[in-house]
Amino acid sequence: MRSWRLWLTLGLADADYASTLKWLRECGGRVGVAVGRPQTCSDCGLGLLAEKGIAGRVLLSVPSRCVLFEDNLLPESQDLQALAEHLRTNLTAKAATSNKLLLAVFLMQQLVAPQPVKRFAAYLTDLRSSVQRTIQAIPLYWAAEDQEELRGTSAASELPKMRRAIAKEFEVVSLVLPHLKHQLLEFQAAYVFVASRSFTLDVSNGVAQAALFPVIDLANHLWPKDTYDQHDSGEAAAVEFQHRPKAGTFEVLLRSQQPLGAGDEVTVSYGPFSNSHMLLRYGFVTPWLHTRTCLTKVKLQLQAEDARAPGILFALDKCPGTWHQALAFFRLWRCRRCRPSDADAEAKRRLAQCGVEVEKAPKAWRLDVSCGLLERDEEMNAVVDLELALQAAVRRYAGGSLKKEERLLGGKLRSHQRVAVVLRRDEKHTLQAVQEEVSGAKVRLSRLAGWRSYLDEGSKDEL
Ligand SMILES: *[C@@H]1O[C@H](CO)[C@@H](O)[C@H](O)[C@H]1NC(C)=O
Repeated sequence: MRSWRLWLTLGLADADYASTLKWLRECGGRVGVAVGRPQTCSDCGLGLLAEKGIAGRVLLSVPSRCVLFEDNLLPESQDLQALAEHLRTNLTAKAATSNKLLLAVFLMQQLVAPQPVKRFAAYLTDLRSSVQRTIQAIPLYWAAEDQEELRGTSAASELPKMRRAIAKEFEVVSLVLPHLKHQLLEFQAAYVFVASRSFTLDVSNGVAQAALFPVIDLANHLWPKDTYDQHDSGEAAAVEFQHRPKAGTFEVLLRSQQPLGAGDEVTVSYGPFSNSHMLLRYGFVTPWLHTRTCLTKVKLQLQAEDARAPGILFALDKCPGTWHQALAFFRLWRCRRCRPSDADAEAKRRLAQCGVEVEKAPKAWRLDVSCGLLERDEEMNAVVDLELALQAAVRRYAGGSLKKEERLLGGKLRSHQRVAVVLRRDEKHTLQAVQEEVSGAKVRLSRLAGWRSYLDEGSKDEL
């Protein structure tokens, strides 16, 4: 069997990164952290542990010559040079690929090379033994029964898209480098690994590219619950760039944000993303996210009454106001004045009067268009349509009611299963929050007097 399977099955023991730390020092970096297992987190894998220090201290510095990015990789590989040249001259290929392509191809080759490139050998050797553990947390590599637990979630609908996008990038690689013996699965593993570890680097020329920052890439994500809504990420450290434009070099710094005790974990924030995003890219979730944020999105399938009109997939969250936009969609179709007639052209013309250009759907749906409703019955119909769409969304999911999901989370679950239930719970929680709004609207709407003000609570919709 081909050798890439070897690192997929043999790379079970974590690297200790001792030789990488030594190499980083020799490369001119400052190292004020240790690599180890954080005390506070039993199943996080490796992380960075601080030496005792004050806020503002540089915990780690990585000079640009030790960073894995295009400038440093191209001199090491003619294949990468050919690929980079192709992307510079072929816009179709460029558009079909992401900024992670070069790094992924490099890693794909290095993971099985008998001798990794000398310049980065220590780091590459440690990366090799991290691949297996890293990618197996990501749903693309879950067993089918675990993937089934994700049914209905936006993560589940992203999986085939991820696969296709990666395969498309690999087509470009195969076209430019037909002599490569690597297979799609090897590329996919390297790609997923790069995506989970890389940072975006914007070096002077304004082109954002993916880069691997040795050791900094081991910092785990943390956004403590109690600091979330203060727009303070609460991270123990932050990653900074320092460009030296004249010398054409830069340095990447990891600087503490708060005083750290010896052995404290040094965390950074990967950004305010939904659990679905975090899981697909990094392989973990933050279980409390649904209570403090409206980052969770659910997809509603919205179909116009006229089946020939394009339906849309509406991304709904529980931020104030979003459900009103979904309602506006149904209102549009329920509105007598704007309802599409049998004749397509006439329907389009009428919709255009309401600010909707069917040609440009779904992107250009002006869902905030207020197509003045004249009749209360029609408004009620629109609200009920939204309710039906919510109910249809609920039926898509694996697992039971929101309550049942919460109960499941209180018990014992396999790790992938737990993560999947968190995603389902997040989305069902969001759907329920919107359903409550809709129920309230129905009650207010059914009042005989003053029904027009039924949306006033929380809404700025003009009626
Ligand atoms: C440009 O790239 C696309 C996609 O990789 C490929 O199909 C096409 O043949 C390329 N064109 C040229 C002129 O190389």
